[in-house]
Amino acid sequence: MDARTLREFEAEARARLGPAHYDYFAGGAGDEVTVRANEAAFARLGLLPRVLRGVGKLQTDVTLLGSRAAMPVLVAPTAFHRLAHPEGERATARAVAAAETIMIVSMASTVAVEDVAAAAPGAELWFQLYIQPDEAFTGEIVRRAAAAGCKALVVTVDSPALGLRERDLRNGFHDLPEHLCCENLRDGDRVRPIVMAPELSWEHLDRLRETTSLPIVLKGVTHPADARLALDHGAAAIMVSNHGGRQLDTVPATIDLLPDVVAAVGGAVPVLLDGGVRRGTDVLKALALGAAAVAVGRPVIWGLAAEGERGVARVLGLLRAEVEHALTLCGRTSIHDLDPGMVRPCRS
Ligand code: FNR
Ligand code: LAC
Repeated sequence: MDARTLREFEAEARARLGPAHYDYFAGGAGDEVTVRANEAAFARLGLLPRVLRGVGKLQTDVTLLGSRAAMPVLVAPTAFHRLAHPEGERATARAVAAAETIMIVSMASTVAVEDVAAAAPGAELWFQLYIQPDEAFTGEIVRRAAAAGCKALVVTVDSPALGLRERDLRNGFHDLPEHLCCENLRDGDRVRPIVMAPELSWEHLDRLRETTSLPIVLKGVTHPADARLALDHGAAAIMVSNHGGRQLDTVPATIDLLPDVVAAVGGAVPVLLDGGVRRGTDVLKALALGAAAVAVGRPVIWGLAAEGERGVARVLGLLRAEVEHALTLCGRTSIHDLDPGMVRPCRS
């Protein structure tokens, strides 16, 4: 195992995963325009360093909604970790605890949220939710997540229907193997399917807020008008996300959408971003353009598939080291001391 970059971890993972499972993790919707755009857009932005600034001890930690992360890189919610590695989300959570960052546990995790928490004492966990049409059942899931110690709810709103994942259709991949299921969807002795509900509206979010004291992060906001509505409806943070290109294809790259959302939010709540973050320099670009932190999805899966807990730890460690190195080369001491002026177009 000699992967030295997040992209090399993908190659390692690919060699270990069956092709249908690799395609599920790697793929996106439609022509995968958005999947490619997320990464390509970061490459079209450059960082302009300052010199002779006496960079000393670096500050990379951030506190978000009361949860501390030692670096501004969170683990995005991704489904089905046990498809990547037998220990699944338990291994991910342990690596996250060691890296002192925040794991957003997917509602579609293959380990129950209580067991994820038990496997990694000390891990900062948030819980990702798809509001289910059965609001009593939704409430029950939220209570479980809160009781397990999750400190925030990340409500994903970009999925009024599942994206058209053509790789999965071609591979005939639609169900988990027999021995795995979405453990958070247990209801007595059955497991309910996750419903992506087209009827969801802001009223559902308002009702959800009444049932929980957990802060709500709205994930999947891309339009500035929706960012303003999210504030009106009490969101405690906004996550600019196009679901890694897995929902509506041709949504522009998140890094290109970020500045308008940041302007609309006007500092009222933290703005997070995910999609295509593969390098420490990507992290700094997003922070310079106003994100409070970023999250990574696929790279964590690649680490997990390649080497289990150790692989996730290495992926997170690489990002941390790259962030620190890029910060030093930019002539900055703190991730809180970045500004839009340091981001310029970069044509290669
Ligand atoms: C996801 N994503 C996702 N999002 C969510 O809210 N709930 C979920 O269960 C999942 N599941 C999921 C599975 C897989 C395999 C992927 C790749 C992604 C989206 C995820 O949280 C995030 O938005 C993207 O993965 C970010 O893009 P990158 O980092 O993968 O480029
Ligand atoms: C996905 C769903 C589970 O992206 O969010 O695969």
